[in-house]
Amino acid sequence: MPLSRLNSQRLFRQQCYVGGKWLDARDGKTISVDNPATGEVIGSIPSLSAEETDSVIDIAQTAFEQWRSKTALERSDLLMRWYQLMLEHKEDIATLMTLEQGKPMTESRAEVGYAASFIRWYAEEAPRMYGETIPGAKPGQHIVVTRQPAGVAAAITPWNFPAAMITRKAGAALAAGCSFIVKPSESTPFTALAMAELAHEAGIPPGVFNVITGASKIIGKQLTGSPIVRKFSFTGSTGVGSELMAQSAEHIQKVSLELGGNAPFIVFDDADLERAVEGAMVCKFRNTGQTCVCANRILVQASVHEKFVSLLAKAMGDLKLGDGFEEGVSQSALINHAAVEKVQRHYQDAMDKGATHVYGITPDKAQGNFVNPVLITDVTTDMQLCHEETFGPLAAIIKFDTEAEAIKIANGTPFGLAAYFYSRDIHRCWRVADALEAGIIGMNEGAISNPMAPFGGVKASGLGREGSRHGLEEYTELKYICMGAE
Ligand code: SIN
Repeated sequence: MPLSRLNSQRLFRQQCYVGGKWLDARDGKTISVDNPATGEVIGSIPSLSAEETDSVIDIAQTAFEQWRSKTALERSDLLMRWYQLMLEHKEDIATLMTLEQGKPMTESRAEVGYAASFIRWYAEEAPRMYGETIPGAKPGQHIVVTRQPAGVAAAITPWNFPAAMITRKAGAALAAGCSFIVKPSESTPFTALAMAELAHEAGIPPGVFNVITGASKIIGKQLTGSPIVRKFSFTGSTGVGSELMAQSAEHIQKVSLELGGNAPFIVFDDADLERAVEGAMVCKFRNTGQTCVCANRILVQASVHEKFVSLLAKAMGDLKLGDGFEEGVSQSALINHAAVEKVQRHYQDAMDKGATHVYGITPDKAQGNFVNPVLITDVTTDMQLCHEETFGPLAAIIKFDTEAEAIKIANGTPFGLAAYFYSRDIHRCWRVADALEAGIIGMNEGAISNPMAPFGGVKASGLGREGSRHGLEEYTELKYICMGAE
């Protein structure tokens, strides 16, 4: 059992972390957590009730008052210590992640580094939470604008990045002076709980960083319905995000939402095709296609279509499907059976409507949660995959003739998280970057995620940004102080 590989067994926690203590649900209720690659039960987590969630909010409120009064440098030092501990325990956190999420160990290690990088970034940003001064409206008047922590912040995070989707919220929240409550996905709680143990060891004071587990509906309702929680952040589907946003309207919480995408990846005829294939491989097959910024629709200009398709099929030949713990594996089990069925449905729908199968074992031959990477062409905008993200290893190619047509197709969904394109024409590059309706543009680049840039979408893909100084601002309120003349 991979759990026996952990160097520090104390990182495997099966209780919530609240107010600096480990606790079970009062009624003893638990939820069991499976390994998506084998179906084996890894362990279980408490299922907290609505009342217990309210108590956690009260604890976070008390902790907030103390945390906000620390200097930014004190907060920064503690975050830096947490960052270092995450790197020291990278192998163990990665092991827990592969166990519960399925992703290959190479990707889990990379995610731990990516997750930790948000803590470091925000440790560095904490002392730079600058305000401004503005010339007064009258002689002798002074206008000063300060940034203050929003208050208790809460988040619900997804299973596809069990560490990074937490740290890019928590790092910003803690740096700004907010206390923080996170409810990780029921599918991947152990990574979050290991990070809580390390936050504890780093000396983050009790109640400042809390991890609670249980049913999303129950906990989400309490977090969004509380007048004490002043900031709520969610990463997940657009449907759930919109429900949570409606709930958070009651007390006018500040809300950030990182929701679904349907990223277009456009290859123009003047692109460097080798680089475009590299970019497509990274952004289509990272996490076995289970990211919100994965290329869901690959648009290729007619004159380079044949060449691009054959290069992509060749590159896909190097992908290796298997258990995330096996050496050399680059594609692994999808999170659950519903995810497998979605890939099968999108593939079959496309084939029924005239798509051509080019490469890969067909999704109907999936074994357990393992689906082979598959490549199809002749995709058209009436197919299901053009309207919802596949979240799996299905590469779907749409052929287009003109730039205007590509942009129209690319923008033709309610979503607008990431969009990518490849071209060597500088004028086209700016024209297309301006025209694409997305919060993130990969211009000749397939890997756009890092802590220094603002990550987030437009349209139905969300509100607000994470990462960069903009991510910190999401956890603050501006206060304008007008000092009258003598
Ligand atoms: C996501 O899939 O929601 C996030 C992906 C990333 O941070 O790159």
